[in-house]
Amino acid sequence: MMVDTPFMFAVSPMQSMSINGHSLFIKRDDLLHPAFSGNKARKFAYFVINDFPKIKRLIGYGSPQANSLYSMSALAQLRGWQLDFYVDHIAQQILDNPIGNYGAALANGANVIDLSKQPDRNERDTLTYIEQVVLANADDSVLFVPEGGRCHYAEVGLQQLASELKDWLAEQSFKQARVFLPSGTGTTALYLNKALMQMGIDIEVLTCSCVGGEDYLKTQFIELDPTMVYHPLIITSAKKYHFGKLYPECYQMWQQLRHTGIEFELLYDPVGFIVLQQFLQQADAKPTIYIHQGGLLGNQTMLPRYQRKYGGLDKV
Ligand SMILES: Cc1ncc(COP(=O)(O)O)c(C=O)c1O
Repeated sequence: MMVDTPFMFAVSPMQSMSINGHSLFIKRDDLLHPAFSGNKARKFAYFVINDFPKIKRLIGYGSPQANSLYSMSALAQLRGWQLDFYVDHIAQQILDNPIGNYGAALANGANVIDLSKQPDRNERDTLTYIEQVVLANADDSVLFVPEGGRCHYAEVGLQQLASELKDWLAEQSFKQARVFLPSGTGTTALYLNKALMQMGIDIEVLTCSCVGGEDYLKTQFIELDPTMVYHPLIITSAKKYHFGKLYPECYQMWQQLRHTGIEFELLYDPVGFIVLQQFLQQADAKPTIYIHQGGLLGNQTMLPRYQRKYGGLDKV
């Protein structure tokens, strides 16, 4: 059953921009809603638009700086649920200075549970702990969402994105296009591709791996779609990037993007744009859409790290 909520998302705008001679259309999913935007808004839309009368507690896990922590806290607040978010440990500097996703999640009332301080942990990793301790004793008032929203429920919101892209293509009288978005778990890219293919829309989905390399991403795709029919095309980057590590070319790319007037985030977008730019050098002139997947709160912690390492803005 659908519920009437102020979080029923509007269609996110499309904006054109140019980078290094390449014209791009940016799908501004970062503007979907101030508290709930980007790919999390798409992946968690199912939990926003459906009714869950029995649920009282949302369980999630991941990094204390994860975008999903903040988005799940916004979801829990919206639905009147308690969020229990399990993390492996919390670095002292995050505790001393709770900003970014962690700080905003606490402000939303999230209960962030540091497993390194749990006496019954017994060296279990976070997921095993949740399965064996938290979910084993849970009743039907508990809703568990896998790390980063990697679950089939994400399909619902990505179908909505696909239909927005379909409408835009028709408005522009484009016959075909390509869409590019950087991947972590690959959930967003895969379900977007699946929805577009099922709608019969000639939009090719391209992605790159920002976490764990191409093989990891392929494995993620196979887990979500063993048939391999809906796997997006993975564009390989000339260099392997380790997630969360700082790279001068990523900082430089981010600063260059900043001059377009659109703020991007610092974990996925710089790698995404570096890979996309390399790809476009030998690609045909089809309209290219880049999905802005939000995550800007993370810049509150990533930007100071970059500034400490490489100096202030425009000094790389
Ligand atoms: C800003 C941003 N971009 C890209 C991704 C990657 O999304 P996915 O894990 O669905 O591949 C994430 C993670 O959810 C994200 O927060």
